[in-house]
Amino acid sequence: MLNSYVSKTSKSKALYERAKKVLPAGVSYAIRYFEPYPFYTARAEGSKLFDADGNEYVDFWLGHTALILGHSPPAVVEAVRKQLERGTHFGTSHELEVKLAEKVVEMVPSAEMVRFTNSGTEANMYATRLARAYTGKNKIAKFEGGWHGGYDALHKGVRYPFDIPESAGLTEGALRDTIVLPFNDLEGVEEKLKNERVASIVIEPVLGAGGGIPAEREFLKGLREFCDENDILLIFDEVITGFRLAPGGGQEYYNVIPDITVFGKILGGGFPIGAFCGRRDIMERINNLIYERPHYSFHGGTFAANPMSMIAGLATLEILEDGTLINRLNTLGEKIREKLREIFEAKGVDVQVTGAGSLFQTHFTRETVKDARAAFNADRKKLVDYHLSLISNGVFFLPTHVGALSTAHSESDIEKLFSETENYVKRWGK
Ligand SMILES: Cc1ncc(COP(=O)(O)O)c(C=O)c1O
Repeated sequence: MLNSYVSKTSKSKALYERAKKVLPAGVSYAIRYFEPYPFYTARAEGSKLFDADGNEYVDFWLGHTALILGHSPPAVVEAVRKQLERGTHFGTSHELEVKLAEKVVEMVPSAEMVRFTNSGTEANMYATRLARAYTGKNKIAKFEGGWHGGYDALHKGVRYPFDIPESAGLTEGALRDTIVLPFNDLEGVEEKLKNERVASIVIEPVLGAGGGIPAEREFLKGLREFCDENDILLIFDEVITGFRLAPGGGQEYYNVIPDITVFGKILGGGFPIGAFCGRRDIMERINNLIYERPHYSFHGGTFAANPMSMIAGLATLEILEDGTLINRLNTLGEKIREKLREIFEAKGVDVQVTGAGSLFQTHFTRETVKDARAAFNADRKKLVDYHLSLISNGVFFLPTHVGALSTAHSESDIEKLFSETENYVKRWGK
């Protein structure tokens, strides 16, 4: 299988050899490396990536799940093209930031005010600071397997085993002030926090990097009540679920309303973005016209609300806001999860296919997968093998990562996923 990949990706191999000399691990993000070397994308269109050797891949990774309309959707490209001529970066206030903030407030139940950043990591960082500023408490809590970006305070308990530091260079203070909670386990949360004072609990409504695992509705509802009873701010990290599970994101889908919400990915329409938003009284802590040092919570940045991301985001949300396309993708997501289960089960392969809406992930295990622990305890080697087999045959998943659907995926793209999965299962054990 790897032989066939190697034989058709010689230009990518040469690029990787060059990359290793100037980029640590040859990549710009550790997760983008896979064995024996990643292919190098030359261009992308709709549901497809085309690599340096001219190979074509149906893309289920979609730029880390950001591209819900596929690559370069015409309406977004057109809006961006116009903006290129009006200016790519102003460093001043401009109407597009107001329009996009208004659109977010219109679509997202918890959003009364918004601030824009350049990435999900940055948005989570500022949201955490805001929660601390608002509550006057230092400690924060997050879940096992929750991925919120590389910010020190949230870079804990991400991968199995969840009790060793995720990176060198994290201070003792950062590690001590973050409490890691069990996912989908309200009693476990209560137990962990019974003697703690925390400013916030941050949760992904569907664990993304942790395995495409949905929170249970009752769990989220219970968490909301627990936060209310204990003066804790509930933060939804909707960097993946935002504008994907519903026009109003995971909070609309689950009907559980957080105090602060963090966005990224889809909101930028294919351009770099992050945002955090929430209740007015909380967000006003960022208002330096009301609060003076040391009471106000700082946020800002050179490229914050840059016009390219704003216009691409606006064009994207205008397409998504009535929910028609999102509903269609959610129905398709359900079909994909069912069909993948069926293909594996027909061959007696123990598999769990998790996900929600248009997100899906395969786990090779007999056990129910309700948390990241179960996802990491499944056969990860087999998952890598499955994903590499798909890649060799023109279907791209970033190995071990969640798959996502876009409106650009055609019926034949989906059929290809099924037929290549069937081929993979047939070869298994031979
Ligand atoms: C749920 C979640 N939060 C935060 C982040 C970090 O966002 P970014 O990579 O834009 O910094 C990610 C990225 O994958 C994510 O999936």
